[in-house]
Amino acid sequence: MAREKTQYLCKECGHTEPKWLGRCPSCDSWNSFTEFKPAKGKASALSGAPISEPPRVQTLSQVKEPETVRIDSGFPELNRLLGSGIMSGSSVLIGGEPGIGKSTLLLQLTDRVKTEGSVLYVSGEESAEQIKQRGRRLKIDLDRPMVLTTARLEEILPALNEHKPSLIIIDSIQTLMTDGAGEVPGTVSQLKLCCYELIKAAKELGAVLFLVAHVTKEGAIAGPKAIEHLVDTVLYFEESGSDLRMLRAQKNRFGATDELGLFRMGGNGLEEVRDTSGLFLVHREGAPPAGTATATLYEGSRILLVEIQALTVPAKGSLSRIYSDRLDQNRVSRIAAILEKHGGLKFSDHDIYINVARGLRITETGADLPLALALFSARTGLALPGDLLALGELTLAGEIQPVSHREKRIKAAADTGYGTMVLPRRKDDDKGPEGMKLLRLESVRDFGTLPWIKVQQD
Ligand code: TYD
Ligand code: MG
Repeated sequence: MAREKTQYLCKECGHTEPKWLGRCPSCDSWNSFTEFKPAKGKASALSGAPISEPPRVQTLSQVKEPETVRIDSGFPELNRLLGSGIMSGSSVLIGGEPGIGKSTLLLQLTDRVKTEGSVLYVSGEESAEQIKQRGRRLKIDLDRPMVLTTARLEEILPALNEHKPSLIIIDSIQTLMTDGAGEVPGTVSQLKLCCYELIKAAKELGAVLFLVAHVTKEGAIAGPKAIEHLVDTVLYFEESGSDLRMLRAQKNRFGATDELGLFRMGGNGLEEVRDTSGLFLVHREGAPPAGTATATLYEGSRILLVEIQALTVPAKGSLSRIYSDRLDQNRVSRIAAILEKHGGLKFSDHDIYINVARGLRITETGADLPLALALFSARTGLALPGDLLALGELTLAGEIQPVSHREKRIKAAADTGYGTMVLPRRKDDDKGPEGMKLLRLESVRDFGTLPWIKVQQD
């Protein structure tokens, strides 16, 4: 039998080399290589015994499909986000800033999830007493989750083997440690090796695995990013200034990625937000001020009406700047350039500030037109009527283009009480629902024809 060759593993980045090197060619760390022997073939994560089935060539019709079921998480919002429930045997990474509510959500999940088997909550961050206190606050059944407080893989794997839970929660992956990958927890090689072993163990048990990952504002998503490819689903909590918590799927092997889960952090944990009709709108007495426009966003199975706000002021420096963290700055810059070239407004000597009500992050192209209208309104001091919203994508030539799910969006707007929708021109001009006036524009050059209200001089 061929002997397994010794390899050298970089403790910092997980890169392997056949020979020892002083400096890692992948991450440039010095003295980071340690000797390791790769496992011989496939071995069980739980028992270490070899898995005997050799790989074979077959046609797709011969492939045995695993029996999968969807598990009700007990949170309809989470079910929708994952694609009608948690896929059995899947691994889910939940990322977000510290304090956003990851541990809270997962402790609530241990109580609500509809599985027959047991649930194991492994914490490398908090003591069992702290978890119990949180459990009391959340009013969960304290007899349901089993708790293990350790960060050592060598202690977690035997516990999985002994208790064979059907749901495993690891809080958090940054605290995990294994003997095989250096001394410091949180390094990429620790993270990769621990997560790989845990995913393998969960798959052997047929258990669902939830991995918590911390993400910091400074963009230190290097940790979770390094293991995104190992898991089936990646969910991120978007930062939020209020009690609102938005959970978005960034990768989903078993469902869509355009869904948004909405929760509110209350005194007893996270509650789901069911009524989203006015959630991202600003409620005012009277007409809205200049610089605001409303978009209809298609977020998976739900339509959200969202106010976009723009402010333009003469540039403070010789270069004008764009301040926008909810809408991509390049996109704001592109829309401003289109308005400057085709709409007759000068933006290049102005600083632009863009905000979205309640801090929702917008990526959808259907928001091009409302963004352009908000910018136009901010720069001219003319306001749009309060019952008007807009939907359309812009080309660089200033033309307004249609976007998907038009009828659904118009209906959602009409149901919320809006009376006017600005849309791109179409050949087969339809009427729209009762009580909804459709205003059709060909290009940003036609903005002047909208029913603007004069509120201030710029
Ligand atoms: P936590 O779930 O610990 O965040 P993470 O695991 O993402 O770091 O949430 C901590 C915050 O949530 C903390 O500021 C307290 C607050 N909180 C509530 O407002 N209500 C609650 O019922 C709980 C349990 C926490
Ligand atoms: Mg936590």
